[in-house]
Amino acid sequence: MFVQRSSHFRPPADPATPMIMVGPGTGVAPFVAFLRERQARGATGPNWLFFGEQRRETDFYYADELLALQNAGVLSRLDVAFSRDQRSKIYVQDRMREHGAQLWAWLRDGAHLYVCGDATRMARDVDLALRDIAAAHGADPDDFVKQLSAEKRYLRDVY
Ligand SMILES: NC(=O)c1ccc[n+]([C@@H]2O[C@H](COP(=O)([O-])OP(=O)(O)OC[C@H]3O[C@@H](n4cnc5c(N)ncnc54)[C@H](OP(=O)(O)O)[C@@H]3O)[C@@H](O)[C@H]2O)c1
Repeated sequence: MFVQRSSHFRPPADPATPMIMVGPGTGVAPFVAFLRERQARGATGPNWLFFGEQRRETDFYYADELLALQNAGVLSRLDVAFSRDQRSKIYVQDRMREHGAQLWAWLRDGAHLYVCGDATRMARDVDLALRDIAAAHGADPDDFVKQLSAEKRYLRDVY
């Protein structure tokens, strides 16, 4: 075990800023801390989490904590993608696309978008989904992602 600092990967400084978190697999862990911090600070910004794993029955990490945070009104939206609970795979980026219009509205409201987990496949596919959503809403995908990154609103901790 070792500690790897990621000083850029923090909840928004402004407690009113909406937060969208994409954390399949072990990537969900920091977002539990993000949500607890928002709760402790009494942050008013809405919080949306996309979580994915293979099977709901055995792999729904932090389920109790997440449902409690949802019941407490801290986690405003929770969308899950259990890839192997049905014949064809469903991943977090499929849920993002399903709710693309709302995701776009959150981003338009100034949401910060966080991605944590697998770097090689998931982060790339989530990035593609983000670009598709931007294009579907009339934005130039490259310009949009570039601007979001420049504004430090597209933050990733991937491994
Ligand atoms: N967990 C380990 O033992 C381990 C060991 C060494 C390194 N790592 C690193 O840690 C990363 C994260 O592993 P993890 O255990 O947290 O979970 P993960 O392997 O990222 O799997 C979590 C969920 O993501 C799904 N997934 C697979 N491909 C995807 C894609 N392209 N886009 C979106 N979702 C996708 C998986 O579905 P399916 O599996 O059904 O396809 C599963 O439902 C690994 O990819 C690897 O880089 C993990």
